[in-house]
Amino acid sequence: MNILITGGAGFIGSHVVRRFVKNYPNYNIYNLDALTYAGNLENLKDIDDKPNYKFIKGDIVDESFINKLFADVDFDGVIHLAAESHVDRSIEDPLAFVRTNIIGTVNLLNAAKNAWKDNFEGKRFYHVSTDEVYGALGEQGLFTETTAYDPNSPYSASKAGSDHFVRAYGETYGLPYVITNCSNNYGPYHFPEKLIPLFINNIMENKSLPVYGDGKYTRDWLFVEDHARAIDLVFHKGKNHDTYNIGGFNEWQNIDLVKLLCSVMDKKLNRAEGESEKLIAYVKDRPGHDLRYAIDATKINKELGWKPSVTFEEGLELTVDWYFDNSDWLSHVTSGDYKEYYKKMYT
Ligand code: NAD
Ligand code: DAU
Repeated sequence: MNILITGGAGFIGSHVVRRFVKNYPNYNIYNLDALTYAGNLENLKDIDDKPNYKFIKGDIVDESFINKLFADVDFDGVIHLAAESHVDRSIEDPLAFVRTNIIGTVNLLNAAKNAWKDNFEGKRFYHVSTDEVYGALGEQGLFTETTAYDPNSPYSASKAGSDHFVRAYGETYGLPYVITNCSNNYGPYHFPEKLIPLFINNIMENKSLPVYGDGKYTRDWLFVEDHARAIDLVFHKGKNHDTYNIGGFNEWQNIDLVKLLCSVMDKKLNRAEGESEKLIAYVKDRPGHDLRYAIDATKINKELGWKPSVTFEEGLELTVDWYFDNSDWLSHVTSGDYKEYYKKMYT
C-alpha cells in the first residue's frame, strides 16, 4: 500500500507517521508537509532513514503540485492532518485557515477522486478533524456523532467547512471517506503555542502563565499516542462514509489543569510546593472562547474496541519528562519567529 499522510511533520501527524512506519513495514509512507512554523522534521528524526518512509515538502494549497503528486504515485489511502491548527492565530488571520483547511482539503479531495474514480474499491480518504466543529457545550451534555455543527472560531469554521466538503465528495462522487472528530491532544512534540507545552516552557523559564478569562473553560484531554492508535484503527477498520468521535473521558477546567501541572513541575524542578502556581496570571479572554468541550466516544469504543490507554496523570508525567529530556527540541522551536509571536500575543 502507498499511504499519503499530510501534515506529518506536525504534532499529531508525527506520531501517526511514526506509528505507521514502524508498525507497517510493508506500506510505503509518504509524508507531505509544507513545514510551516508548526512543521518540524526534528519530530521524525528517529525514523527518517527507514526504507518505507519518504518525506515530500509541499503545500496542499498548490493545486498543480497536488495533482502531479497523485499522477506520480498510485496512492491507496490518504490520512489528512495538514492544517492551520491554533485558534488564537485564526482570530488574527482567518484567511490563512480558509486557504489551508478548506482549499487545501478540496485540492486533496479532487486529486483523490480523479485518481480513484474508475475503481474506488480498497481506497480510503481519512480526514482528521476536531470536536470544535460542534461549538460549545454548557455545563451538561456530551458531543456525539449526531450533534449539529455550530463552530464559533475561524479555526473551527474552517475545519467544519472541510468536514462538509469531505462528506459532500462521498455523497456526490462516491469517494470512500471516514472522518474523526477528536478532543484536545497533549504529549511529546506539542508546539508551545498551545496551553500545556506553553505553560511547561513558561514554568521552566519562570515566566508568567497567562490564563484566559476566569480559567473556568473546560476541555477534554487525550494523550496523543492514544489518538494515533485510534487513527490507525479507524483507517483500517472504520466504516466508509462514517464519522467517529475520539476523546479522553477526561474533562478539566483550565485552572485545575494548570494547578496540577504546576505541582508536577514543582517536583521536577525541586521547587517548594505552590511555587510555580505563583506564576498564574489571569489575562484578557480569548474572543468567542468556547466554554466547554466534552466527547462521547462510545461509538468508537463499541464498534472498534478503542479506549484511552493512559490516565491523565500518567500522560502528563510522561509529557513533562519528555520536555525535560528534549530541551534542545524546545530551545529550537522557541527561537526565531516564536519570540515575535509570543511578544505579539502576550505582551
Ligand atoms: P500542527 O499545527 O501541530 O501541525 C500541522 C502540520 O500541517 C504542520 O506540520 C504544518 O507544517 C502542516 N501544514 C500546515 N499548512 C500546510 C499546508 N498548506 N500544506 C502542507 N502542510 C501544511 O497540528 P496538530 O495539532 O498536529 O493537528 C493535526 C490535525 O489534527 C489538524 O487537522 C487539526 O485540526 C486536528 N486536530 C488537532 C487536535 C489537537 O488537539 N492538536 C485535536 C483534534 C484534531
Ligand atoms: O478540541 C480540539 C482542539 O484543541 C484542536 O482542534 C485544536 O487544534 C487545538 O489547538 C485545541 O484547541 P484549544 O483552543 O482548546 O487549545 P489551546 O491549547 O489553545 O487552549 C486550551 C484552553 O486553554 C482554551 O480554553 C484556551 C486556554 N488558554 C490557551 C492558551 C494558549 C489559556 O488560558 N491561555 C493560553 O495562553
